[in-house]
Amino acid sequence: MDRGLVHVGESLLRGAARPPRQPAFPAPGKDRGPLESRRPGTRAVPAPPLVVDLGYGAAATTTVELRRRLAVVRPDVEVVGVEIDPERVAAAQPYASPPELTFVRGGFDLTCVDRAPALVRAANVLRQYDEDEVAGAWRLLQDALAPGGLILEGTCDEIGRRSTWIVLDADGPRSLTISVAFGAIERPSDVAERLPKALIHRNVPGERVHTYLRALDAAWDRAAPLASYGRRQRFVAACADLRAQGWPVLDGPRRWRLGEIGVAWEAVRPTRTHPDSRPI
Ligand SMILES: C[S@@+](CC[C@H](N)C(=O)[O-])C[C@H]1O[C@@H](n2cnc3c(N)ncnc32)[C@H](O)[C@@H]1O
Repeated sequence: MDRGLVHVGESLLRGAARPPRQPAFPAPGKDRGPLESRRPGTRAVPAPPLVVDLGYGAAATTTVELRRRLAVVRPDVEVVGVEIDPERVAAAQPYASPPELTFVRGGFDLTCVDRAPALVRAANVLRQYDEDEVAGAWRLLQDALAPGGLILEGTCDEIGRRSTWIVLDADGPRSLTISVAFGAIERPSDVAERLPKALIHRNVPGERVHTYLRALDAAWDRAAPLASYGRRQRFVAACADLRAQGWPVLDGPRRWRLGEIGVAWEAVRPTRTHPDSRPI
């Protein structure tokens, strides 16, 4: 999978709910991530890759921006905004520029697109659903993916300053990422109210994600002596501390400096599966 595309998709999750004509990213400097590639050489996805912005909402803004950002790393990328609401599909048509940017009506099964997507972003879509519907929605999206494809499924606040997302591949969830604008939090766990649907009801004692957020807050507290250097330094120190304790923290200071910390799914997955859902 093309990590450049993933980084763009991840970064755009932070601003998914941003209203039109706002700055592209919630905090200056956060857009360096998309141009980083953790796996140079994996940009050779058969051209042109298809990317889906699922449930883009009332305005075409996020889809237009996604196409613009992705084109930096893959000029031939084709982005399609998929919406279940026909009025929203009609309203987006003036922004279409086929084949690189289109808007169609469809749902989780993605039968509305003409080939398998390399990347699906679903921002603030599943939060409208019940927890027991998550696994089924994921399964449909997973089954629609191109080989090696990924799904970014997450939630953020109104202007993307508190964001979280789960990365999934065809086999299941791989990681949870928390991304914050430093001015928008007092403690890392402030992001809890924006956890993805699969986890938001699990932030209770006995669940892994609750333990993880407590551990992140404790690391933040231990990094208090760095507060005078700013929250960025403090956050980077907290991430390193968490990793030193054995948490499967992803990436490193380059991402942490953006206010972003990922952790392997195994560390946060629900302890008990919802009785009506398939295992996640
Ligand atoms: C809260 S809006 C999110 C808009 C945008 N992604 C954002 O984060 O700002 C959720 C959108 O998802 C759409 N939606 C809900 N279920 C869907 C589904 N199964 N397939 C496609 N779109 C869906 C709704 O119509 C709505 O426009």
